[in-house]
Amino acid sequence: VPTEFKLNTGATIPAIGLGTWQAKPGEVRDAVAHALKSGYTHIDCALCYQNEDEVGQGIKDSGVPREKIFITSKVWCTYHDRVEECLDITLKSLGTDYLDLYLVHWPVRTVENGTVKLFPTKPDGSRNIDWEWDQADTWRQMEALVEKGKVKAIGVSNVSEILLEKLSKTWKIVPAVNQIEIHPYLPQHSLKKYCDSKGILLQAYSPLGSTSSPMLSDPEIQEIADKHGVPLATILISWAVNRGTVVLPKSVTPSRIASNLKVVKLDADDMAKLDGMSEEGKWQRINHPPWGTDFGFSDWYGPGNKDA
Ligand code: A2P
Repeated sequence: VPTEFKLNTGATIPAIGLGTWQAKPGEVRDAVAHALKSGYTHIDCALCYQNEDEVGQGIKDSGVPREKIFITSKVWCTYHDRVEECLDITLKSLGTDYLDLYLVHWPVRTVENGTVKLFPTKPDGSRNIDWEWDQADTWRQMEALVEKGKVKAIGVSNVSEILLEKLSKTWKIVPAVNQIEIHPYLPQHSLKKYCDSKGILLQAYSPLGSTSSPMLSDPEIQEIADKHGVPLATILISWAVNRGTVVLPKSVTPSRIASNLKVVKLDADDMAKLDGMSEEGKWQRINHPPWGTDFGFSDWYGPGNKDA
């Protein structure tokens, strides 16, 4: 089972990274320090998680030198017209002068609204989206950051095959990764095939099914876990790595942080079972984009999407 993957830049990326979404300030500092001290070399962050200051403190507490850590962050929706400004905030919070990977968090620009900076809404409660904004303009700014040397690689997140095809008309740098929700209930087979063909590595977020996960009590997955004598979460993480995707399990619990770094080799039978679950009635998307249905879910999610 691989412990790292190659990006299309030639750099390597550790197969497992610590997720920090929904890791609260007050918890995440210790979680990050613990993770780095117990063998993690990869942390996945984002400005909109509103905890990058604490993540930065955790990195510092760990005593692990910066160059030994692969750090990812993401430009938030309200910053698509000033990507570098967003990056600079993140760099300052994390206490570093470069990122290993910078992603466009969502392929949509939202417009700041009065004092509501990160999640601006319109009077009807829906998100204040700039429908005229061209994602090619966001991507150009991302490319400029690579040229400047402030980030080593760039990628996208929450992007379907349809949106990638659109972006491919103007990109000079092919995205190194696409970070999306992936787990056995949402395996993204078709998007994986497409991204493989383009040299874009997939990163799995919510690999354990996020909070109150339906997969943690799935008897079929439990059976595979029992067969290997490991916790069920290990099977979910192992499935991701065995099929060639980066996996980003989030935890702030020291015992889980340590155990989530362990991966087992799954056999063809295990893989077939896990790969096939979504086709056998267990399909489920756990995180819905917070933009409302007017966005056009079919373009958003691409082929095979069952939300449209
Ligand atoms: P906690 O952070 O309190 O340990 P995902 O990575 O899919 O977003 O899932 C994160 C959720 O899964 C969090 O609620 C986290 O709780 C929980 N979690 C993380 N690791 C494990 C594990 N090994 N076993 C069970 N639950 C876990």
